Amino acid sequence: MITYKEKVEECVQKVQTLCDGFQPEVGIVLGTGLGGLVEELDIKYDLSYEKLPHFPLSTVESHKGRLIFGYLNGRKVVAMQGRFHFYEGYDMKEVTFPIRVLKLLGISALIISNAAGGINPNFQKSDLMIINDHINLMFANPLIGKNVNEWGDRFPDMFEPYSNDLIEKAKEVVKEHNLPVHEGVYAAVTGPNLETKAEYKYLGIIGADVVGMSTVPEVIVAVQMKLPVFAVSVVTDLCYEGALQPVDLPEILKNASNAEPHLSKLIGGLLTKII
Ligand code: HPA
Repeated sequence: MITYKEKVEECVQKVQTLCDGFQPEVGIVLGTGLGGLVEELDIKYDLSYEKLPHFPLSTVESHKGRLIFGYLNGRKVVAMQGRFHFYEGYDMKEVTFPIRVLKLLGISALIISNAAGGINPNFQKSDLMIINDHINLMFANPLIGKNVNEWGDRFPDMFEPYSNDLIEKAKEVVKEHNLPVHEGVYAAVTGPNLETKAEYKYLGIIGADVVGMSTVPEVIVAVQMKLPVFAVSVVTDLCYEGALQPVDLPEILKNASNAEPHLSKLIGGLLTKII
């Protein structure tokens, strides 16, 4: 039987063949409602996930499943338009499969975006938040099981899961463009239901600034592979007392898309500063 490691390697080989050895420097994961960044890309290769062996397929309508290779602000990038969520029924190894592939394709930094609920009462809809730490409340972990020692440690350190160097560079971009950006802690839950009032309150008490249903599995795998990560949340709904409303998915998507110009500036600017 083919092992997980062999599946990843087979996929990497196929991708390299399909894009004539194009070597991306930076990987970008585009979150819910944030796929529009792709329009800024000078696209060289556009691979639908269906073409990639062992790659999971997106099931959420607001996510298109393609791996896009090209140039953004002069940097060679690979963007994932459409990610895999635990709540879709994928296991943690499937959710993080693409991150293994991107790392083995040779990227030297990973940029992740996501949509999240704002717990911190200073946050407004469509604000951005640079993630500087996280709390894993998914009670699942992509590293459980036999460790592939070639890929990384059995017990990876989590002292600095989000690269301080990348955060500092991003803050320079924030200043240059005067963007509405906060910094804080992302709590990851499985979903797919949104949280109760009591749960939002609890998340605030334990130190979360935003809450979402993704990112943490990918970050854990990236950290294990010693891949520097920069992650940013777009606040799509407000979850604190006085602002909390029943969930409205179209509004969440609208608030995500309203933030896209800022997100593009932030990610585009950061790319120019990544050496
Ligand atoms: N909770 C969890 N995930 C989310 C939310 C939320 O309020 N908003 C966007 N993703």
